[in-house]
Amino acid sequence: MLPIICPHCNEPLSFNNERSYVCKNNHNFDLSKGGYINLLPVNKKKSKSPGDNDMMVKARRDFLEQGFYDPLMKEIKSVIENELIVDSKEITILDSGCGEGYYSENALSNLKEIKSNIIGTDISKYAVKYAAKKYKNNFYFVSSIYNLPVKTDSIDLILSVFSPNDSKEFSRVLNANGYLMIVSPGENHMKQLAELIYDSFRPHEYNIIEKIEEPFSHASTHRKTFKIEINDSVMLQNLLKMTPYYWNTSIEAQAKIENCNAISITCDFSITVFKIV
Ligand SMILES: C[S@@+](CC[C@H](N)C(=O)[O-])C[C@H]1O[C@@H](n2cnc3c(N)ncnc32)[C@H](O)[C@@H]1O
Ligand SMILES: [Zn+2]
Repeated sequence: MLPIICPHCNEPLSFNNERSYVCKNNHNFDLSKGGYINLLPVNKKKSKSPGDNDMMVKARRDFLEQGFYDPLMKEIKSVIENELIVDSKEITILDSGCGEGYYSENALSNLKEIKSNIIGTDISKYAVKYAAKKYKNNFYFVSSIYNLPVKTDSIDLILSVFSPNDSKEFSRVLNANGYLMIVSPGENHMKQLAELIYDSFRPHEYNIIEKIEEPFSHASTHRKTFKIEINDSVMLQNLLKMTPYYWNTSIEAQAKIENCNAISITCDFSITVFKIV
């Protein structure tokens, strides 16, 4: 049974034969045609369509599918396989803020000697729709990471890639030996893209260790740095749409990007692992 709970009464949700998930108090959540469920209560929505919009999700899919971030996928997999101590050969993983699902499928599935049951959530219904449609072995649902419709103590590993984090909610859903793995930007991430837009680049100073609170303790940090060669301005625009720079790009900078047919860009990631103490 999936470790998901009703967002109204916190009772476990189970699948009934009518293509919906239901709790014992008869709260009902339809399985969409695309194979996902929406567990974000309307009164918890801060806007009509929270999270990434269709254009951003599509740009992310088009970019990631080219394999540009595959060195990062390999590194995440290797940290899971070599560093995490798990009691069982079968683990449950939550991809938190999963976007269109590329990481769930390419970094979390087919692990060496471990079977992973993967669930993924995002507040964007567009993202979840893309993920569920393509990655049918995993289960995706719409929800906010600040109020996860996930059973207490049910998850062995949470992966959070460039998404919001909530120490309290993450520690609730993780079991006592669980791990939290956060991927965040390293100091030189997207340096050349930023230079194209702003003329100068200010290194990222994001310190994830300061942001994750008790009961988590820092276990390890892995840096993964590599360059990608982008030889197509449409792909560069896709990359831009995946970053917060997109919203601050002037018309002049937009033109520069449209006219740029070859650029080498630094990708710089920090993979930080936390454990519950
Ligand atoms: C930068 S994207 C990363 C997506 C994916 N992890 C990836 O790297 O491809 C951030 C994601 O967080 C989602 N998000 C933002 N606020 C959220 C929240 N409160 N709960 C769940 N997801 C959220 C957005 O919709 C978006 O898909
Ligand atoms: Zn209920």
